[in-house]
Amino acid sequence: MSDNRKPLLLAVDDESTNRILVKNFLSNDFDVICVETGVAALNFVAHRIPDIILMDYRMPEMTGKEVFLKIKEMKEVASVPVIFLTAEDDRETEKELFQLGAMDFISKPFVPEIARERVLRIQKLKQLQNGLEAEVEEKTKDLKTSGEKLERLSKQMVLALAGTVDAKDTYTRGHSFRVAKYSKEIAKRLGKTEEEQNDIYMSGLLHDLGKIGIPDTIINKPTKLTDEEYELIQNHPVVGSKILEEITEMPGLYIGARWHHERYDGKGYPDGLQGDDIPMTARIIGVADSYDTMSSNRSYRKVLPQAVVRKEILDGKGSQFDPVVADVMLQMIDEDVNYDMRQKDED
Ligand SMILES: [Fe+2]
Repeated sequence: MSDNRKPLLLAVDDESTNRILVKNFLSNDFDVICVETGVAALNFVAHRIPDIILMDYRMPEMTGKEVFLKIKEMKEVASVPVIFLTAEDDRETEKELFQLGAMDFISKPFVPEIARERVLRIQKLKQLQNGLEAEVEEKTKDLKTSGEKLERLSKQMVLALAGTVDAKDTYTRGHSFRVAKYSKEIAKRLGKTEEEQNDIYMSGLLHDLGKIGIPDTIINKPTKLTDEEYELIQNHPVVGSKILEEITEMPGLYIGARWHHERYDGKGYPDGLQGDDIPMTARIIGVADSYDTMSSNRSYRKVLPQAVVRKEILDGKGSQFDPVVADVMLQMIDEDVNYDMRQKDED
């Protein structure tokens, strides 16, 4: 409402003397429209929404209460404050109307100056309420934007971290991204929700984060590792999960890092978990990780042929891999007739 426009008041009263009276004492503060019946009032509000309604309770045909209940059913008009004009013996009705949501009552006969004050007070209250609602709406919008910003930032941080890990390994460049991608696809085929798929993708991106603490020379060593070096490498799930457990905003992020080297038969590391004790996210990432390790270059060999990779997954089904997840991976391999799902030279 602009400042120079007066608020619109709809007065509903079957008695012309009352209509004239209302118009007289409220015209300074409101644009007053008077109608004689409830039906006319309903017709009016169907086309134009007043800022406030002043309504006689006792009217022939439709009573004020009937009109009021109809108004409450109209979505656009339901929140317009209604003040009733009641008679001395309408106390019980007032109680009922109040419970139904009427704003206030003015008893007839009324003193115009007091009635005016009451109407103005209700109008002010409504104005404040509208302003407050608008402000809350505005603030909620702000919060949503900053929430989205934060989420984007978290995602970028995760991507940057994954890139850092991958950069340490000169041979398996892009490993984390491929593992994340394959894991998400497996999750999708297993019927996981979009949100679960995205969580698994994030967890997949960071599954090797613990390698950050291992010297590049060990990671890229083309010859056999010493026991000591091997032990260092085997520590990466614990190191990675310790870092990720700190990120409380994304609570499940550490799961892939911690358990992607567990085996279904319980012979994996670091915790020797078995079967369904290994979280599903980690069972999925475990299969995707093994698949990508075989279908990408290593410091000691080139990409393995698809048939060899397929056989390894099949052989590991039920021992190294969850059989259900392995079956999904096998299905993906079989659909990949050109063996596109592997590390490319440009990766
Ligand atoms: Fe790993």
